[in-house]
Amino acid sequence: MLSSFPKRRGRRLRQNSRVRALVRENGLSKSDLICPIFIRDGENIIEPIPSMPGINRYSIDTVIPYVEKLINLGIFTVALFPLTPSDKKSSTCEEAWNPKNLVNIATRKLKYNFPELIIMLDVALDPYNSDGHDGLLVDGKIINDETLVALERQALVQAEAGADILGPSDMMDGRIGVIRTALEKNGFKDTLIMSYAAKFSSAFYGPFREAVGAQGLLKGDKKTYQIDPPNMEEAIREVGEDIFEGADMVMVKPGMPYLDVISEVKRKFSFPTFAYQVSGEYSMLKGAIENNWLDKDSMIVESLTCFKRAGCDGILTYFAPDAAEIINKNS
Ligand code: PBG
Repeated sequence: MLSSFPKRRGRRLRQNSRVRALVRENGLSKSDLICPIFIRDGENIIEPIPSMPGINRYSIDTVIPYVEKLINLGIFTVALFPLTPSDKKSSTCEEAWNPKNLVNIATRKLKYNFPELIIMLDVALDPYNSDGHDGLLVDGKIINDETLVALERQALVQAEAGADILGPSDMMDGRIGVIRTALEKNGFKDTLIMSYAAKFSSAFYGPFREAVGAQGLLKGDKKTYQIDPPNMEEAIREVGEDIFEGADMVMVKPGMPYLDVISEVKRKFSFPTFAYQVSGEYSMLKGAIENNWLDKDSMIVESLTCFKRAGCDGILTYFAPDAAEIINKNS
């Protein structure tokens, strides 16, 4: 046991901000932040997403100045998600491996304008699927191995477009191995994989599905591939498999209600670990901030720093621009 009162007074270490800073165990930096961005077709469009106040969809021309703003704030990693026009969605999802789909064009343009930018792209079929699922739906079932063929094509086209990080978010069995093998075979030796390794079947994704236009389309739910929220051991197995199959980084998703999973993953595997503070978490906090029920700056910093304490190396968060502004203001 530690020494007891009054030899030890816990409050000595909290007596002023300099002493507190001296003994602070974790901190948030701008380099920890990955900013998700929604892309849509058209020109000169910045379109608010009603279920995510403050978050917009950008057409490809308007995303360039937006990313420039992020870089000026000190954010160098972005994750792009498309709102695919409904006439390009199908149950076979070909648009997912169209080299000229929205995210691939955006990746090329952004890389051309900002070579130092790190771009992450989701590998999953849902933005392109008229059935709203991450995998192919046939006779009411998500077919795993046929989906892997589609994901492999999608991943290669994205790597070819210049994506630095591929983020398989589909939770099909075996996808990391298939993608890693295909990348190696095709000369993409430096393409990183951040696997959405422990992705839970969560109600917190609702606003995102609206943002990518998958909400109304989704037939049934994603429970046959995403992890059942009560399960820790299953999450650990999924992470272990993805590391074994060739992931460079692993992610736990959602974030805040799953800090215990993050902590367990980091301690078990000592591997680069990320969290996705998902759309529902953002909308929940943002709603309370907008109503003045929570203080904006302290809420954002606290919620993100707790991910660091749990063991995260970085966080995907819709608060990335706000967080960077707060960090800049305070430094
Ligand atoms: C889909 C995907 C989802 C998110 C990222 N990629 C949603 C889902 O699985 O339904 C969620 C992100 C968020 O809620 O912010 N493959």
